[in-house]
Amino acid sequence: MKREKRAVVLAHNYQRAEIQEVADYVGDSVGLSREAMEVDAEIILFSAVDFMAETAAVLNPDKKVLIPSLGARCPMAAMLQIDTLREYRKRYPKVPLVLYVNTLAETKAECDVCCTSANAVEILEALDSDTVLFGPDCNLARYVAEKTGKTVIPVPESGFCPTHVLFLKEDVLKVKEEYPGAVLMAHPECRPEVWSIADYVGSTSQMSRFVKSSKEREFIIATEVGLLHRLRRENPEKEFIPAYEDAICVNMKINTLEKLYLALRDERYSVKVPESTATKAREAIMRMFELTE
Ligand code: 13P
Ligand code: SF4
Repeated sequence: MKREKRAVVLAHNYQRAEIQEVADYVGDSVGLSREAMEVDAEIILFSAVDFMAETAAVLNPDKKVLIPSLGARCPMAAMLQIDTLREYRKRYPKVPLVLYVNTLAETKAECDVCCTSANAVEILEALDSDTVLFGPDCNLARYVAEKTGKTVIPVPESGFCPTHVLFLKEDVLKVKEEYPGAVLMAHPECRPEVWSIADYVGSTSQMSRFVKSSKEREFIIATEVGLLHRLRRENPEKEFIPAYEDAICVNMKINTLEKLYLALRDERYSVKVPESTATKAREAIMRMFELTE
């Protein structure tokens, strides 16, 4: 069906193994956004969660962006409401607002610049301000505050990823005890007490690049378990241990191979972002690319 429709399938690193296997590109949120702009296809089937597909639609107004299911929503993105954002804007009129790409297009449209977990530190460093409003993930906010030394005001106060907060320090320490020689890698959406004990902190694709270039053989992974499929496929000689094997993003897993097939066959569900929102959201995303080039 993919060949018949001349479609390109983009899948996030957390997608089910069988979806990763049929995808033309598997990556993190920033990699997928860039790929969406570069692909030469009329149809992009985007297998991930809502905000990622919206980003692809915002960047590709002339392409048909399809998603396999309507229910795959990121709960963290839903934690940031426009009204909250506007209140903070009023309270801190001179402070730049950076939004993680894990936000809906209508909120992205209100910010100065977007970032991802792969470039959040770089983006904050590029801004000419010692204080920054940052949302919606308060754990990533703490991480960038520590790395940059800037005052980072989380918006809202305690937005979080329900999957990454499942990693608890005591559980991770137990796994470390079992595999004392293993490298501990964590996503910055984890709790600070978890990312602060990690040997490497990064986005999903940064972790995958790190593993490829590392001489070490054992890795404990503190992020959604879908990434382990990619790591094992790319590095069959290395061993990957989940820091918590029930760390599953149920929203990412709503997409199935059957739903991908039906989406292509029936050319559904099309992602549409109103042009006025898309224009402003695009500016914030493009600013992120400019600041990190
Ligand atoms: P990455 O940008 O690292 O892929 O993260 C996206 C995400 O949703 C993490 O939970
Ligand atoms: Fe959202 Fe967390 Fe799922 Fe990533 S893992 S899509 S942040 S709920």
